[in-house]
Amino acid sequence: MTIWANVIGTGGYLPATIRTNQDLSEMVDTTDSWIYERTGIKSRRIADEHETASSMAEVAARQAIEMAGIDAEQIDLIIVATGTPDRVYPSTACLVQERLGIKHCVGFDIQAACSGSVFGLSIADQYIKTGFAKTVLVIGSEVCSRIVDWSDRSTCILFGDGAGAVLLSASDQPGILATHIHSDGGYEDLLYCPNPQAAAAHKQDEASVINMRGNEVFKVAVNTLGRIVDETLEANGLQHSDIDWLVPHQANTRIIAATAKKLGMSMEQVILTLETQGNTSSASVLLAFNQGVRDGRIKRGQTVLMEAFGAGFTWGSALLKF
Ligand code: UT7
Repeated sequence: MTIWANVIGTGGYLPATIRTNQDLSEMVDTTDSWIYERTGIKSRRIADEHETASSMAEVAARQAIEMAGIDAEQIDLIIVATGTPDRVYPSTACLVQERLGIKHCVGFDIQAACSGSVFGLSIADQYIKTGFAKTVLVIGSEVCSRIVDWSDRSTCILFGDGAGAVLLSASDQPGILATHIHSDGGYEDLLYCPNPQAAAAHKQDEASVINMRGNEVFKVAVNTLGRIVDETLEANGLQHSDIDWLVPHQANTRIIAATAKKLGMSMEQVILTLETQGNTSSASVLLAFNQGVRDGRIKRGQTVLMEAFGAGFTWGSALLKF
């Protein structure tokens, strides 16, 4: 009998503080119209000093658990994707486990930058299919605002904070149909964030902030996401018209529109959160999925294609029946 990983709950958390393009135009040489036209972003949320990847993840996780109507003790695996963990260790997943008061499960973090939640879904799917785990919590949680150089107008306009969660459970009914994940370490120079300890040891003047050659990343992202969409449909014997919803990583509306066009999908079939959330890195796909589920657009039985691209480069897709 085939075992599937079924979505039984979703959740999301966004910090209360809103930073608008207007606010940014008072900090760096930019304008609301430049940011909106080039990226599709109008505002983003910024964590307050007490909020962390684990505190935001906890709220998103509790929502997913409540939607699923399960006891948190039933969770046997917690995977947290984050590039902005509370600590080097313990893992954010262990901190979330403690916050949720779960004693009998295992948790670990993964680092795949903006592709983190899709990588997390892929890992969860493998563990459920092999029978190692029955109920898996996948979270993407990011405090990007702490690794943004707020004096760099080419990057500070893009990123925001937040957490998205999905709860998966073993089932005999179709859930995650397939995942495809990739990486290519040859692009470190185009998008990276130094580790503070290593930077201090090797290059004293290198701050631990996001460095990105945006225009070059943009071009690779558009081509790569086009390829991953083709790969996913072909490998699973699907046509463009079989996909009900595209839930993309929210980096830039122009990148998302190019992928939707490739799929022959209208923007009405795309869940977009970019305008009010910016790029929340590993949280963005799960935040968008949660939004689409909770506002009733994504319905049970529909087919959803998630895709993401990030530093590494890393990229991937998750195809699922909701
Ligand atoms: O999530 C992980 C993956 N990340 C991405 O996928 C991000 C991909 N990249 C992008 O989204 C876009 O490349 C950006 C939004 C970052 C930049 O847009 P662009 O259309 O690629 O602009 P550009 O970097 O080619 O810069 C065009 C001009 C430059 O001026 P000159 O050289 O033409 O005079 C920049 O200095 O725009 C200037 N510029 C700005 N102007 C006003 C750059 N940032 C700003 C700004 N406000 N914030």
